Amino acid sequence: MGLFRMDKARRLIIAGNWKSNKTNTEAVALVTDLIRDLSTVKEVDVVVCPAFTALSDVSRLVLESNIRLGAQNLSDAGYGAFTGEIAPGMLRELSVRYVVLGHSERRQYQNESDALVAKKAANAHANNLIPIVCVGETLAEREAGITERVVETQVRGSLAGLTAEQVEATVLAYEPVWAIGTGKTASSAQAQEVHAFIRKVLASMHGEAVAKRVRIQYGGSVKGSNARELLGQPDIDGALVGGASLEAKNFVEIIRNAI
Ligand code: PGA
Repeated sequence: MGLFRMDKARRLIIAGNWKSNKTNTEAVALVTDLIRDLSTVKEVDVVVCPAFTALSDVSRLVLESNIRLGAQNLSDAGYGAFTGEIAPGMLRELSVRYVVLGHSERRQYQNESDALVAKKAANAHANNLIPIVCVGETLAEREAGITERVVETQVRGSLAGLTAEQVEATVLAYEPVWAIGTGKTASSAQAQEVHAFIRKVLASMHGEAVAKRVRIQYGGSVKGSNARELLGQPDIDGALVGGASLEAKNFVEIIRNAI
């Protein structure tokens, strides 16, 4: 592990969020390359989050590798008459370990509220899935000077009802909406400031000890060239990567620069 990580007890987690990209065939090709190129990586947790249609085949391929599987959403319920929803048991059978919840695209296009994200997060924990709960302000909110207020509301609302133990096992992702898919990255100082603030909110909710153990990823135009600087910040414990996770070469570069 690189020297710059030695002060951090939390293990880095770098996840590729493939969003609504990659057919099953394309996903299989991508993960095959990643398994080959990342076979010696042991220092960080590497996760890929394909679309639901590719989970089954990708699951079989990553089973014996050091890559873990994530899904991009989860129902707030179990099996039953919920057309179009994916129940936790369906993911568990495919050895899915993580679920991305409350991504800003879902908050924006599917009107997901903090309360719904909290229900999904509780459902994940109840079924041994680890939620990656996303929060982040829009450009208008940042410019209005209300970033902290917005992020605090999202953190408290999206983790409402979880036990301290569940919060500790949750991964948070700070993703400023203005930095997602835009090529604009928050500067490492801007990102660190919000990460430290989120940890303060977590401490006020569940105490310092819990807050210290929660992993907080940064997301928003992370790429090979900015990964090291971002991941070197004291409160940044990983990355949630969209665009740069769609090509093996780019995703591998981020991971190589993180260790
Ligand atoms: P991006 O997306 O890396 O393409 O900015 C990040 C995300 O939305 O998780």
